[in-house]
Amino acid sequence: MSPGPLVVRCPAKVNLHLEVLGRRPDGYHELRTLLVAVGVWDELSLFPVADGTLRLDVEPAGAVPADADNLVLRAAAMAREAWGVAAGAHIALRKSIPVGGGMGGGSADAAAALVGLARLWESSAAAAELHALAARLGSDVPFFLVGGAAWGEGRGTDLRPLPDLPPWWLVLLPGEAPISTAQVYSALEVGTLRRSPSATVYDWITGGGELPLSACRNDLEPTVVARWPAVGRRLEAIRGTDQLLAMLSGSGGTVFAVYPDEARAHRAASRLGPYGPLVAPLLGRALSLLRPSVLEGP
Ligand code: C5P
Repeated sequence: MSPGPLVVRCPAKVNLHLEVLGRRPDGYHELRTLLVAVGVWDELSLFPVADGTLRLDVEPAGAVPADADNLVLRAAAMAREAWGVAAGAHIALRKSIPVGGGMGGGSADAAAALVGLARLWESSAAAAELHALAARLGSDVPFFLVGGAAWGEGRGTDLRPLPDLPPWWLVLLPGEAPISTAQVYSALEVGTLRRSPSATVYDWITGGGELPLSACRNDLEPTVVARWPAVGRRLEAIRGTDQLLAMLSGSGGTVFAVYPDEARAHRAASRLGPYGPLVAPLLGRALSLLRPSVLEGP
């Protein structure tokens, strides 16, 4: 019996807080952000290939391009070079995380590829090396190596793992069309940003207690709402559903709201039917950490 593929499931993320402190000399923006894993999952199945080729298949077909620009293939090529591997891999990616929606789907896939390929190719790469490769692939990629809740600074890649948040549930309204993160940041007028960093949220990071939800904000939201009015309409719809918090995730266009339990999230979702709501839990670290699992072959 031939062994089955190595399977890595990767969750999405939302930013419960995203402060932009300013533009950096390298063109990126300096952030302070609270990232949390969310139970909407992509899945990667990895098969070894002896001849050294790297191949990606995507399901549903066309959900994202399966070419060399896909972060999964970029991760694979980068890892193969860094680890001096001669073998290849065939990777089948099943997409469920909305694409270009600020939920980190492409970044999650890239992190899962790194973790899966390290196992498939029997690399002894240390955690710090995986983190460095992840940061080269994208600002959100290292978070998925940490999982749970984490505080991000710098480009978003300087991460501090945090204790799990309460078992809250989310309703997410994916955007109608993908939004380019680069486009959002280039449209952001840094001069109009609030001068004062949120001391309240930072105090919670250092002091613990309850997350001060009323201080959570996303500094990209006004720019995205101004350019993509449909996002503003979704935000209006989701506000007023008895939520704890409602905001844009990352650079959008997914908007989400937080509820204290699953029943309340489903009740809110039933009122948001036309917007194609997803209902998902926030995930603790134990559930969301990427791990390869070998399935039984046929
Ligand atoms: O790091 P990543 O490639 O995912 O970022 C995509 C784009 O988002 C960058 O090219 C940059 O324009 C913008 N960005 C930024 N500051 C960050 C993260 C991303 O300006 N901290």
